[in-house]
Amino acid sequence: MEKTPKVLFEITEDHLETGLRGFPVGYCPTSKVDPQKGLFYREIPVSDLAKKSPEEVIYLLMEGKLPEKSELEKFRQVLAKDRHLSKEAKQAITSLPRKGHPMKLLSSAILILGMLEETGDYRKDCMNLIAKAPALVATVINYHAGWGEARDLEAYHGYMENFTEMLNVPGAPDKKRLSEVMALFNILHYDHGGGNASAFAGKLVASTLEDIYGSSAASMCALEGPRHGKANQEGLEMIRELQKELGDGPTADQVEQWIRDRLAAKKLISGFGHAVLRAEDARATIFYDYLKKHFTNQPLAHLCLMLRERATKVLKENPKIQNPYPNVDAASGTLLSSAGFNFPEYFTLLFGLSRIVGVGRQIVYERLEAREGKGVPIYRCKYIYKAGS
Ligand code: MLT
Repeated sequence: MEKTPKVLFEITEDHLETGLRGFPVGYCPTSKVDPQKGLFYREIPVSDLAKKSPEEVIYLLMEGKLPEKSELEKFRQVLAKDRHLSKEAKQAITSLPRKGHPMKLLSSAILILGMLEETGDYRKDCMNLIAKAPALVATVINYHAGWGEARDLEAYHGYMENFTEMLNVPGAPDKKRLSEVMALFNILHYDHGGGNASAFAGKLVASTLEDIYGSSAASMCALEGPRHGKANQEGLEMIRELQKELGDGPTADQVEQWIRDRLAAKKLISGFGHAVLRAEDARATIFYDYLKKHFTNQPLAHLCLMLRERATKVLKENPKIQNPYPNVDAASGTLLSSAGFNFPEYFTLLFGLSRIVGVGRQIVYERLEAREGKGVPIYRCKYIYKAGS
């Protein structure tokens, strides 16, 4: 007798035009988001991974387990070997216009890499893009910002160590601290379940059998939107606005009033709320802990921590708000800024550098592994004709 499939979700008319909120679409092998506990990579909560190296966590996402010492060494060698951009790629990227948001440059740079290096093998192309992503993003940021050339480093010091070294950040920041913060930021942004907009966009485009490069470029375009990746830039800009209006040392009550005034003026409290989470984002908690440990002497960090408490309090008063808690974007910008990377325009590129990993691995799954290797068919959902609009 044939098994009756389990009903997972019932669709009513009320679900139309709600952005597929909560619709089950498929399986995600890389990560899951628990509304209370937050993000898990494979079966491991991100709080247990925050002190690992980027290479270890990328390996976990790619292979499904943390690496043994020898496996890690081999994996590092693969990333090191393929990390350089060709002269042709660099020239093409640095001939692009510098106008507009730099995420446009990143999407274009990924497409250029695809034009020059696509092999048609999703797994191989995914690893190539991951290996080159630090050089690609450093080249894009340095070029867009006018910080000079991203130098090819002879030695491989580590995925994010090399990235930080290639980035010609002005102002002589403490490179060791900055590199540690960059690695933490990188690890915590690799993936966030299967249904976030950038992962979904990448998998949707890949379902047409477009290659990893084009699919990842589409994913980066989704990430550029202020409702998604660009929220980290807006999170810091809001804290700077607060600092400009109230100075470095306002009382918590003054901050609370500022939030109330902002809401009354119908302005957004950036970095709060989430479509899935119903508690403080585990990634935000890790960033807050780091701020408390290393940067409490910095006014910006202080304001960010005050917002954590008071914005949540104010948002909780509105029963219509399902999640009044901070998400990853509430603290990530302050952390980068406190560590010496005070350039919000580029925060979303750092998000992209990281998300290339999770989206790429999810695409590999949907193209090569899902449905006993047959892959997920081309996405083709249904829209109902509406007359008179
Ligand atoms: C993400 O990391 O992708 C964001 O938190 C958005 C989401 O999960 O929907």
